[in-house]
Amino acid sequence: MQKLEVFGANKLKGQIEISGSKNASLPILAASLLSNKKVYLNNIPRVKDIETMTSLLKSLGSIINLKNNKLIIDNSKQNKKFASYSLVKTMRAGILVLGPLLAKFGNAKVSLPGGCAIGTRPVDIHLNALSKLGVKYKIVQGYVYATAPKGLMGNKIRFSKISVGATENLIIAASLAKGTTILSNCAIEPEIKDLVNFLIKSGCNIKWIAQRSLKITGVKEISNISYSIMFDRIEAGTYLIAAAVTEGNLKIKNVIPKVIKTEINILKKIGTKINIKKNEIHIIGNKKIKSINIKTAAYPGFPTDLQAQIMVLLCKANKESTIKEDIFENRFMHVAELNRMGAKISTSGNKAKVNGNIDFAGAELMATDLRASVSLILAALTAKGKSVINRIYHLDRGYENIEKKLKKVGAKIRRVN
Ligand code: UD1
Repeated sequence: MQKLEVFGANKLKGQIEISGSKNASLPILAASLLSNKKVYLNNIPRVKDIETMTSLLKSLGSIINLKNNKLIIDNSKQNKKFASYSLVKTMRAGILVLGPLLAKFGNAKVSLPGGCAIGTRPVDIHLNALSKLGVKYKIVQGYVYATAPKGLMGNKIRFSKISVGATENLIIAASLAKGTTILSNCAIEPEIKDLVNFLIKSGCNIKWIAQRSLKITGVKEISNISYSIMFDRIEAGTYLIAAAVTEGNLKIKNVIPKVIKTEINILKKIGTKINIKKNEIHIIGNKKIKSINIKTAAYPGFPTDLQAQIMVLLCKANKESTIKEDIFENRFMHVAELNRMGAKISTSGNKAKVNGNIDFAGAELMATDLRASVSLILAALTAKGKSVINRIYHLDRGYENIEKKLKKVGAKIRRVN
C-alpha cells in the first residue's frame, strides 16, 4: 500500500494552480444522465472519486472518453437503471444517480451508500423529497428500489435540513419532471450554483427565486452542452492554510476569491497577509497566529471540509482556540493523529479545544478520511523531522497531483510503495 513521506519544517514558496472542483464535477456527471446526447466537460480533476463516478456511469451504459482534464460523455445508448453496491460503497455521491435515473426512466435500483467514517450520513432527506415528486420507494437488502408510476411530477418541497447532496439530487430530478417544482431551504454551496449553471446552459428552466429557493420548470430533454467546471474551493483553502502553517509565501492561481471570502477573512483575522487579484490569492504566512473560535456551517459559513486543515494552523496560535463541528457528528478522527505529533487537542462531542504554541514533531501516521489525510500532510510540512502517512488512498479521492504541486513550491514529499 502506498504511503507518503514528508520531511518538514521548510517554508513553501511559489505558485499553485488550483484544479477543477471534485464536488462540482460529481453532481454534473450525474446530471449528464438526463441527456441523450453528448456532454463535453472541461477542468475535470483527475482524482479517484471522478474515476469511481465515471465507472458508475459506464455501468449504466454511458460511453466515457476522459483525456487529461476533458471528459466527453455520450449517453445516446445509456439504458441501465441499476447502480451496484460495489460502485456506490466507496463514494456517497453515487446516490446522485438516483434523481436523474428516475427522471429519465421512471424507475431505478440504487445501492445505499456505504457507512462512512465521518458520520452515519443517511439519505432520508433525498428520499423524502423525491417521494414528493411522486416517487414510491422501498429499501431491501441495502438497495433503494424506486419507481415513479406516473413519472415525476413537480411539487413544492421544503428540505427539513440543509443538505448539499439532497439539493443536488432534487434539482436534477425536477429538471425533467412534469410541471413546476419549488425547492426551499436549499443548500447554496458554490458547487450547487455550478450544477444549476450547467443545467441552465443545457436548456433547463431553473431560477433562483430567493437566497435558498429555486423554481424549476421541467423540460422534455436537454441539449448538447460544453461546460467548464468551477475551481476546487476546498483545494484552494487547503493550500492557503499550507502557506500559513509553514509561514510561506504562495500565489494560489485559477480561483475566484469572492467564492471563499469566509475563509480568506478568517485567515486575515488570525494574522496572515493576503492580497487578492482577479483570479489569484497571494498569501504570506506569519509566525504570530492569533487564536480564534470557529464553527463549521453550510455555505457561506466555514466549510466542514476545511475543519481538519484549519485545526493544524490553530495549533500554532498564541492561545487556545475552539472548533465546533456542526455538520458531521464524527469528524475529529484526525485529532488523535495530530496529538501523536505533539498537538494538544481535546474533544467533547462536536467541540474541540485546540491548544496553541505547538511545535509538531514528525511521526508515523494513519489517514482516516479525505480531509483528515490532508491535515496530516499540513502538520507534517511544519513538523521537525520525517513523517510517514499511511492509507493515502483517502487522499487520492480528492486532491489532484498533490505531491507534484507541493514539491514545486519547496515541500519535501514523496510517495513510496
Ligand atoms: C457534501 C460534500 C462533502 C461536504 C458536505 C457538507 C460532495 C460530493 N460532498 O456531502 O464534501 O462535507 O456536502 O458540506 O459534494 N444528512 C441527513 N440525511 C440526508 C442527507 C444528509 O441527515 O439525507 C445529514 C448528513 O449526515 C450531514 C448533513 O446532513 O450531517 C449534511 O450533509 P450533506 O450536505 O448532505 O453532505 P453530502 O452531500 O453528503
